[in-house]
Amino acid sequence: MRWNSGLACVAALLGLANGDVFKDPDTGFSFSQQNLQITTGTSYITIRIAIPSPATAGQPYDAVLQIVAPVAAGWVGLAWGGSMTNNPLLLGWLNGASGVTSVRRAASHTAPAVTADATAQVLAKGTKSNGTHWQVTAKCTGCTSFTTTGTTKKTLNPAGTNRLAFAYSKTKPSQPASGTSPINVHDLFSYWDHDFAAAGNAQFQDLVDRNL
Ligand code: HEM
Ligand SMILES: *[C@@H]1O[C@H](CO)[C@@H](O)[C@H](O)[C@H]1NC(C)=O
Repeated sequence: MRWNSGLACVAALLGLANGDVFKDPDTGFSFSQQNLQITTGTSYITIRIAIPSPATAGQPYDAVLQIVAPVAAGWVGLAWGGSMTNNPLLLGWLNGASGVTSVRRAASHTAPAVTADATAQVLAKGTKSNGTHWQVTAKCTGCTSFTTTGTTKKTLNPAGTNRLAFAYSKTKPSQPASGTSPINVHDLFSYWDHDFAAAGNAQFQDLVDRNL
């Protein structure tokens, strides 16, 4: 993303350093977070990830995704494999006071299809909005270990960094109450290396249960 240069200091002034651990007072999770600039100036989408600790390398584990987005964002999606194609795309958006999530998958750069390869569940206590931002928190089963092409399996490293990608659209899904709603193409996408080593939560399952 070409806006990145020189932005580190603005982000630092705003207390938005990347790779930071964010302790969420609402849900109790410790998240490893990344701020993604979406316009010139100070408009960011924040992607936060929490995983169980310990998590065994090479084994699937659940993950909690928290999206914080300006109200101008219609939907935000996270590509767990770091590109649009051949990996789970976890989408979230706000519908009234509720969060909606949807897992999709694409084999090409066309509208991804809803898939049951992974399942997501909104954590209501981590879902809210105000005049400037909305926030949706969801648990995903199947997002950290998946097939890419053919029978090739990829499992995200719980103890290091993983290449992720995100995309967002300014247009809200046309049937916002439905996780299977059609969506518009994104207005922006970008990539980063997300620090999963800082995302561990010893009480992961308890926290999930408490936030449902
Ligand atoms: C209607 C839905 C969608 C359509 C029509 C669509 C279409 C496209 C197209 C045409 C490109 C190529 C753009 C270019 O090269 O400049 C692209 C790239 C990309 N899209 Fe999508 N997309 C959709 C949904 C999504 C979703 C839900 C995600 C992620 C959560 C996503 C993530 C990406 C990423 C990361 C790229 C960069 C290239 C890559 O990594 O493969 N897209 N998309
Ligand atoms: C609005 O909500 C977002 C997301 O929860 C939060 O980061 C931000 O601080 C809130 N702003 C105000 C003015 O409360």
